Amino acid sequence: MKAVEKNVLSPATTVRKISLMKHEEKIPDVVALRSADIEEIVSLREEVLIRGTTYPNKYFDGDTDPNTRHYGAFINGRCVCCATLMHKDIDGVPGWQLRGMATDPTLQGKGIGSQLLKLIEDSARAENPKGVLWCNAQLPAARFYEKHGWRPESEEFVIDGVGPHRRMAKRLGNLPHA
Ligand SMILES: CC(C)(COP(=O)(O)OP(=O)(O)OC[C@H]1O[C@@H](n2cnc3c(N)ncnc32)[C@H](O)[C@@H]1OP(=O)(O)O)[C@@H](O)C(=O)NCCC(=O)NCCS
Repeated sequence: MKAVEKNVLSPATTVRKISLMKHEEKIPDVVALRSADIEEIVSLREEVLIRGTTYPNKYFDGDTDPNTRHYGAFINGRCVCCATLMHKDIDGVPGWQLRGMATDPTLQGKGIGSQLLKLIEDSARAENPKGVLWCNAQLPAARFYEKHGWRPESEEFVIDGVGPHRRMAKRLGNLPHA
């Protein structure tokens, strides 16, 4: 019980605000990054990741588990990027599985996903500096994770109805990415 408590993630109570100045096409509004409720993010998850696949529905097992954390990036209250962390140890090491990472298709490639991933990594690191984050990355997105210091941990495998994947992981004890 104690071990589980140690790995409960505190919600990111502070809202992180970014404006994506470095990108040529500047996003005019402030992007607020914060913890979120499942209902705030699930429509975007469905639009980007579920529609057109054989996932039975937009909710994942564990979405309402007390240890599960949802995160979102919001522009004027609209969710434009989302991700979910579920407490799942990996190889006996305290770990969290990152699931459902998605950015609004009209806003991909502008740095929002990177900023949300940083917030998630920082939240997890604050709880357990030696924990591991891992995910089953869709193959086209593997580069995104690699850019942030995640490393492949498996051969390619196919999830029926979704496509090729590779397990990626990041040990939080490593230096944070730039
Ligand atoms: C992967 C994803 C969440 C990244 O979010 P984002 O807001 O686009 O991320 P950023 O703008 O911070 O970074 C994008 C970088 O990731 C790279 N990338 C890797 N895979 C990508 C993908 N499938 N789609 C878009 N960009 C991808 C881009 O080339 C870009 O690199 P660059 O900055 O060197 O050009 C988002 O692109 C997305 O929702 N893709 C479709 C759904 C998906 O594959 N989700 C991941 C499931 S494991």
